[in-house]
Amino acid sequence: VGLRSGRSLWMHSDPVSRKNESVNAEVLDLMNKMQSAAAGLNVSLGHPLFTQPLPPSSLQRFLRARPIPGLVLADHQTLFNNRYYESMYDDVENLNVTYPPDLSPDEQLVYETDAAKSLAEVATLVARSLYLQAGGEDKSLSNITADPKIVSHMTNTHTHTRAHTLTHNMHWFRSLLPPEVTKKGDNSILSSGPPQFYIGLGPRIHGPVHSVTRFVQYILANLTGTVTNLTESQCQNPSEINTENKDLFSYFWVSGPASLNSTGEPFCVRASVRLSKAVSPAFELLEYGSPNYSTWTESRWKSIRARIFLVASRELEMLTLGVGVAVLLLSLLVTYFISSKAELLFSSARETPTTAY
Ligand SMILES: *[C@@H]1O[C@H](CO)[C@@H](O)[C@H](O)[C@H]1NC(C)=O
Ligand SMILES: *[C@@H]1O[C@H](CO)[C@@H](O)[C@H](O)[C@H]1NC(C)=O
Ligand SMILES: *[C@@H]1O[C@H](CO)[C@@H](O)[C@H](O)[C@H]1NC(C)=O
Ligand SMILES: *[C@@H]1O[C@H](CO)[C@@H](O)[C@H](O)[C@H]1NC(C)=O
Ligand SMILES: *[C@@H]1O[C@H](CO)[C@@H](O)[C@H](O)[C@H]1NC(C)=O
Repeated sequence: VGLRSGRSLWMHSDPVSRKNESVNAEVLDLMNKMQSAAAGLNVSLGHPLFTQPLPPSSLQRFLRARPIPGLVLADHQTLFNNRYYESMYDDVENLNVTYPPDLSPDEQLVYETDAAKSLAEVATLVARSLYLQAGGEDKSLSNITADPKIVSHMTNTHTHTRAHTLTHNMHWFRSLLPPEVTKKGDNSILSSGPPQFYIGLGPRIHGPVHSVTRFVQYILANLTGTVTNLTESQCQNPSEINTENKDLFSYFWVSGPASLNSTGEPFCVRASVRLSKAVSPAFELLEYGSPNYSTWTESRWKSIRARIFLVASRELEMLTLGVGVAVLLLSLLVTYFISSKAELLFSSARETPTTAY
């Protein structure tokens, strides 16, 4: 929806579940609320013909369980406008993101691209219609507006992350992350290599610090949290203070904004951002043969190893063999000699010479 050619949005709905009277009524109600929320905005809203099937979307997954009312917002009426929809090519290049020349990376980060402005508009529309849906009044709608600056921050961060141009120079980022992460090092998210988009099974193998998940967590903590006056040790163990609640909030120790010649004052952020594992229900229900839920897992990470040894020269090998054979022959001779003279050698020392060898 950030690409909106022609500046119009389309509300798609599912014709199958709308055959149910009550679902249909709620879908129509949702559409009306969206329309009235769009009234004050620079967005034109339409809906395709009633009979048109729902485009691929997560709503489909819910509809499989039972008919529920829902809308899918898209920038197309019948055919996809975005040829790369949900594919690996739907990336920065497809977004046609261009920055005015001679912007530093930090300036690019705050530059408001068209896509970001467009996304902010859609976010405002969705927020206002949700507000109406929750029983809010028309007259307070104008107070609800998404800030295109924040949206540009987030989208530019994302495009930079995708483009692997994230560098140590981005002060905004560094200020959001814990001090130990922003230090130079291979394990740091700000290291020059591409960040981890890999979805691992645990933090052990693919360290959480470098992962984009962690990154998004800290960005959301900054955007939704509040700055507290807790010290570092209190931040790590907030349950010691009776005004703080570790069950309600997460606490993050972050670097803080830095100027050119100072490293910034770290502080503690209290936010309701949490990480949770997205485990397939198949594993929770122990239905490993389930046709409904994926049971795809990571294959084993068993590394193949080889060791290389230097081979000694041919002469040394032959010498070793020769010495070995010589020692063998010598020991045979000595054993033969001792055993043949055993009675003589051991009779005086021992009473029972039969067990001499
Ligand atoms: C319509 O959907 C609702 C909610 O899913 C359900 O309770 C009701 O039985 C459905 N009505 C018909 C006629 O299928
Ligand atoms: C991006 O640019 C190409 C070529 O200039 C154009 O064909 C395409 O429609 C543009 N895409 C968007 C989303 O504007
Ligand atoms: C978010 O980051 C900005 C810029 O570094 C900083 O000024 C602000 O205090 C942070 N807010 C929170 C809640 O962490
Ligand atoms: C933090 O601020 C609260 C009031 O907002 C105050 O009661 C508390 O003593 C302060 N704690 C520290 C360590 O400064
Ligand atoms: C940064 O350094 C410059 C000169 O090197 C100085 O004028 C300025 O006050 C310093 N700023 C801070 C915040 O220390």
